[in-house]
Parts: sequence; structure tokens; C-alpha cells
Amino acid sequence: MDKEVKRINIGIIGCGHISQSHIFSLTLIQANSRKIWKWKESDVKIKPRVYALADTNHKTVMQIAEKFPVKKVYSGENAGDQLLEDPEVNAVFVLTPTSFHKEFVLKALNKGLHVFVEKPLAFSLEDIDEMIQARNKNNVVLQVGLIMRSASPIHYLKHLAEQNAEKWGKPMNILMRDSQEKPYKGAEEVHNSSWRKDQSFAHAGILFEHSIHDIDAMVCMFGNVSEVYAKINNYAGHPGIEDSVSAILNFENGINLSLTAVWNDLKYDCRLYEIYFERARLKITVDGRSEKLLDIRLLYLDEPEIELDIGEMDRYFFEKIGFPHIKSEVTGPQYNEDVRFINAIVNHNIKSEITAETGRYAQEIIEACYQSNREGIPIKIHNSKNN
Ligand SMILES: NC(=O)c1ccc[n+]([C@@H]2O[C@H](COP(=O)([O-])OP(=O)(O)OC[C@H]3O[C@@H](n4cnc5c(N)ncnc54)[C@H](O)[C@@H]3O)[C@@H](O)[C@H]2O)c1
Repeated sequence: MDKEVKRINIGIIGCGHISQSHIFSLTLIQANSRKIWKWKESDVKIKPRVYALADTNHKTVMQIAEKFPVKKVYSGENAGDQLLEDPEVNAVFVLTPTSFHKEFVLKALNKGLHVFVEKPLAFSLEDIDEMIQARNKNNVVLQVGLIMRSASPIHYLKHLAEQNAEKWGKPMNILMRDSQEKPYKGAEEVHNSSWRKDQSFAHAGILFEHSIHDIDAMVCMFGNVSEVYAKINNYAGHPGIEDSVSAILNFENGINLSLTAVWNDLKYDCRLYEIYFERARLKITVDGRSEKLLDIRLLYLDEPEIELDIGEMDRYFFEKIGFPHIKSEVTGPQYNEDVRFINAIVNHNIKSEITAETGRYAQEIIEACYQSNREGIPIKIHNSKNN
């Protein structure tokens, strides 16, 4: 008997920097879908594919379409709307500058399309609440691009810390540093963008645009935040675009985290997390310009520091998300989050595994940091929403 074929035709709105990672990942996923969704053992053949591309800029979208041939290409002022009108499209990736997220996400959800939208979700928590309501009303998937949630080390180290709770002692302090060359200079290695220095497109600076990932990663590992205190500066002078942040986040479980975030002119793009336990320290370095992107080390009492095995982390993660048969050498966090999005569509899990609530919570913490800076006082986080 012929098996039912479930096609998932994906439309991409915004074909800039981050779209290339998603389109590359989705193309790999398409090629591997037979294995990922086990066609042999299933009654249904899941067939996702990138079906259409849209960008206001004709040259940009044509360059991507040359590398990744698709059925439909839309360009010009109304490209995104035209893609959303295409009856063949079932799911969209909204990958435009942040100012356009709300409009495209709401239109797509209200057309009954499943949506993956990059972080930050929108400019305000109220706008995110509108997205959540539209998701619920239309009963479709809405996933946010908080990529650390699909990075295997975050899940593995959380598990390792829990397993070694007695040996390592309690987690006490986190030192977190996010240092990135200003991403709005227009050069290839610094995001090739200029909208990140314009408040009307970006809403805010490094905390909102970049450190959101780091804050979310620590929430994923250590739970809710109870209070924040922050001092924020703006050296480059682009109104509303902070480029220097010092913040203290107190977690409900007692951990104190101190964050330094900087956009400057160093040819450097590196994140560092040092997590101190009573008898151990985890040190994670993510160096965007080094051949060795990831370096993860454990120090325990007076034993020599050891480097932890990333392959083991990948195996743990794929087991955890229900895909032990995925081979880690073809994957990366973007691939992982895109698999999870398609899988949420397949299983009709409208909250997906990385929910809009998750994105809202990270933004709630960030907005509290801005409020703390304005008012010069610590701000409590109410944790009223499920994250
Ligand atoms: N998760 C991550 O690690 C990550 C990394 C980078 C960017 N992002 C997020 O992804 C989004 C896009 O960032 P980017 O770096 O790819 O930006 P980009 O400037 O490289 O690309 C944006 C693209 O959108 C197009 N565009 C602008 N307005 C449009 C509209 N109204 N309709 C259709 N197309 C439009 C532009 O022409 C451009 O090609 C942002 O929200 C950013 O915060 C996330």
C-alpha cells in the first residue's frame, strides 16, 4: 500500500545573514528526512522542503535562489505578503529585521501557517502576547529562534551538574561575558547589516539583540530569575542602542550571575561562561572567529582540568529530543532547532519545544534590566508566565 506523503512547504521571509544558515539546514533536513522521520517504520512520509523565498531586495533573494533553487521567488516591497498569499506554503520562517516580526508573524498565524520566527520576538511583551493569542486561536506552531535551546552543551551540562550535585556542590556564581565586534558596520564578518544601529528596526542594542541568547541559556540550565540590577551605557551614540552592559541576575535558586556585554571595535566575537560550584568549575568558551568554535572544560578540586567531549554532548541531546538516530557530524544548533520545528508541525505540538513563552520570558528579564538602569534600583521578576 502506498504511504501517505505529508509535504511541508516552507517559505522564507527575509533572505539575509541568518537565512543562509536556516536554508542550508533545511536543505540538509530535506535530504535526510527519510532517516530523520523513519519512513520505513512510519505510515507517513514526512517531506519538508524550502518552497519559496521572499525579500524586499531583489538582488539578495536572487543570490540565495541561485545557491538553493526553490519553486517560487518573491521580491520587492510586498514580497513577504505575496509569499503569505501563496496557497502552497504551509510554514514560514520570519527572518527579517526585528521591527517586521510582529506584522509577518500575526499575518502568517492568522492564515493558519506554522511559524518559526527569529529572536527577539517583537519590540514589546504586549506584542508577544498578541502572537501567543493568535497561535492559540489558530492552533498552529509558533517557535522562537533561541538557538541555545538547541545547543547540545546546554542540555548536557545541565544534566552533568544534576548528576554530580553531591560531588560538585551547589552552583554558586556565574560569570558571563558577551563580546562582539559592532554588528552594524556593514562588513561581511560583522553580520553585513546596518539596521542593528537603528532603534526603529532593532528596538535596542546588545542585550536585546545578542545577550538574549546567553540569558536564555542560563535560564534553561538554572531556572527562573527573581531579580535583576543593571547599568547600561551607549558609547557609540546610536540612540537607544546600548553597547555596554553590566548586569547582575539573581536566580530563584540563589545563584548570582554577573554579565558583561560589549559591542566595540575589537576584531573579536567571543562568549565566555564560567559556572562556579562549591567544588568545581565549568568553563565554556564560544569563539566565533576561532577554528575551534567551542571549548568546554571542567575543573574539580585539585584534579587536572579536563576538556569535555562535544560528541558525547550531541549524543545525549539527540537521545533527549527523541532523535538518537541523527548523526551529529551533519548538524549544528540551527539544524537542530529546524528539525524540532518541523517535528512540532508533524506532531501538532503547537507550543513546540521552544515556545513563544520562552522568548517572552528572556525578553521580560531584559526589559527589567532596562528598567533597573532607568530607575537605578533592582527590579523583581514576577515569573507569572510559564517559560
Ligand atoms: N538566532 C541567531 O543566532 C540569530 C543570528 C543573527 C540574526 N538573528 C535574527 O534574525 C533576524 C534577521 O537578522 P539578519 O542578521 O539575518 O539580518 P539581515 O539584515 O542580514 O537580513 C534581513 C533580510 O531581511 C530583508 N528584509 C528587510 N525588510 C523586509 C521586509 N519587510 N520583507 C521582506 N524582507 C525584508 C532584508 O533585505 C535582508 O535581506 C533578526 O531578528 C536577528 O535578530 C538571529
